[in-house]
Amino acid sequence: MYYQAIVLAAGQGKRMQAGHNKQFLTIGQKPLIVHTLNVFDQDPWCASITLVVSNSDRELMQQLLAAQKWTTPINLTEGGSERQESVLMGLEALPDKSGIVFIHDGARPFVTIERLHALAEACLEHRGAILAVPVTDTIKLRRGNRLETMDRGLLWAAQTPQAFDYQLIYDAHVSAKVDGVLGTDDASLVERLDQDVFIVEGSYDNMKLTTPEDLYKAEAFLNGK
Ligand code: CTP
Ligand code: MG
Repeated sequence: MYYQAIVLAAGQGKRMQAGHNKQFLTIGQKPLIVHTLNVFDQDPWCASITLVVSNSDRELMQQLLAAQKWTTPINLTEGGSERQESVLMGLEALPDKSGIVFIHDGARPFVTIERLHALAEACLEHRGAILAVPVTDTIKLRRGNRLETMDRGLLWAAQTPQAFDYQLIYDAHVSAKVDGVLGTDDASLVERLDQDVFIVEGSYDNMKLTTPEDLYKAEAFLNGK
């Protein structure tokens, strides 16, 4: 079995307040994005990595990649101003426009090869599958002063990778663009076409590094390993 990975690194990391793209921040002695790419490089099922970066980070990223001894082919491609735009640009830059595509946040360094394989197998069977974890908080829906408490047993927090058959996710992205829809993840664009997406239970360790506090969590995770 094999898949192609799109790894997104074209954001600005504004909420991290580091003054530059958070992908280059050091955790456990390595840049964040190196941790993320390492996992895919080590997965024998990963045929290629399409790394989406902004033009302003391209040179720095190239230098960083040149210093690694990776064997999986990595193509650098340009991203857009919204995550969704970056994904579509990644899809259009894939070397092979068929088969299973994984879409992953560069800012999620701790996904495991074991979960990647479970996801690939689910995607092969269902055409669309995502990693997600059960929500642990009580979630309230607020409309004005009226609150409604959601049934937590039904709620899942979506993670990445999200895996799809190439044609399904490409069509979903093009359709969203035509309709002017900006979704908060890739699966939501497939859901709006009335297509089922399968959940593969992930791990709470597969955190996205978003704010400065997340750096402490990441260091603590690495120290505990
Ligand atoms: N991303 C991207 N292109 C964009 C925006 C985001 O490729 N135009 C990527 C980020 O680099 C990140 C992932 O999508 O790996 C998830 O986005 P997020 O955590 O929001 O990262 P940033 O957009 O960089 O951070 P912020 O929203 O705080 O500016
Ligand atoms: Mg963002």
